[in-house]
Amino acid sequence: MSHPGPSTTTTHHVAHDDGSENMTSRDYYADSYAHFGIHEEMLKDSVRTGSYRAAIVNNGHLFKGKTVLDVGCGTGILSMFAAKAGASHVVGIDMSNIIDQAQKIIEANGFKDTITLVKGKLEESELPIKQFDIIISEWMGYFLLYESMLDTVLLARDKFLKPGGLIFPDNATLYMAAIEDQDYKEEKINFWDNVYGFDYSCIKDIALREPLVDTVELKSVVTDPCSIKHINLLTAKKEDLTFSAPFSLTATRNDYVHAFLAWFDISFDCTHKKIQFSTGPHAQYTHWKQTVFYTPSTLIVSEGQKITGQLTCSPNVKNNRDLDITIAYSVDGDESASTSVQYKMCVIHISLYFPCPFLTLVMDVNADRLSGLD
Ligand SMILES: C[S@@+](CC[C@H](N)C(=O)[O-])C[C@H]1O[C@@H](n2cnc3c(N)ncnc32)[C@H](O)[C@@H]1O
Repeated sequence: MSHPGPSTTTTHHVAHDDGSENMTSRDYYADSYAHFGIHEEMLKDSVRTGSYRAAIVNNGHLFKGKTVLDVGCGTGILSMFAAKAGASHVVGIDMSNIIDQAQKIIEANGFKDTITLVKGKLEESELPIKQFDIIISEWMGYFLLYESMLDTVLLARDKFLKPGGLIFPDNATLYMAAIEDQDYKEEKINFWDNVYGFDYSCIKDIALREPLVDTVELKSVVTDPCSIKHINLLTAKKEDLTFSAPFSLTATRNDYVHAFLAWFDISFDCTHKKIQFSTGPHAQYTHWKQTVFYTPSTLIVSEGQKITGQLTCSPNVKNNRDLDITIAYSVDGDESASTSVQYKMCVIHISLYFPCPFLTLVMDVNADRLSGLD
């Protein structure tokens, strides 16, 4: 889930701190996770929450009698799944004021003695248990890595996971494909060429470089998918999150290409039945949607032709919450016609437009766009 985190750094065990009940819009701007609305969206994402539930609750044999650390516990849902699965003790940590509600939730559901909540930033916190059998966390952001808390989970692994311990989930894979998207590109990008008869084209370049988080219909996809990054959470290092990957996309029909599309799959491979879910255009809707990277000009591909290139991704130097993504590509290896576009994923706060001040959106303000999921 991608929302800017709060600045709270104090570490203390949660008692009955009602901080979140007196928060103003300014506080929510700094601690957007404190508002129930963001958690409502995540909890109602049944692909997300249902997959975690299946991976944890249906694998009692892995959890029975084990100690569990829930990194970024939010409302405590994953901690309660772990307690239900038979964990001997669960520690949930979160730096947002939402943890005050989580404390009430775990008490209301009879888990007071099994779950201990710690309020604070994991990186700066002392935990009541020093080494855990299992780490559970929902850390994924848009484009998998945008504003994700993967750094925090890797640090938690190195500091708090016993040798041979398990991580839920333990594998993530990022994919890309190319799409036909004439109408929407017209509406979002070419719109700036002529605004009520005025030339606004200076904004067109900025708009093009900002990836769009939105749902895309499967029928818009005109190439095979290509996996560009695999992350094994048991072995990944922070440095692996800066990467450059080659791609080769084979056209499945004769068509135009207006954009590249990216999404990710998540799997819990340490479970017997290997629970997994996808955020791709072929799968059921998730709140991560997909990420669209418009190309400056339209490509024409024939069935069987290949778009080849390189995708490079790194945290922005000035603000490591933002991602700098470069996509260099050419059709059928024609280097003379090779194009390279630098994209920047960054958060835009547009709470001004919404009555609910907690709303902090990435450029996915296109609620009118059709979901094309089967
Ligand atoms: C995507 S939410 C997941 C919430 C909950 N686990 C769930 O599945 O519904 C991530 C949570 O991690 C918390 N978080 C992010 N970075 C953190 C850090 N460094 N230390 C502690 N909590 C963090 C946020 O405040 C947020 O509540």
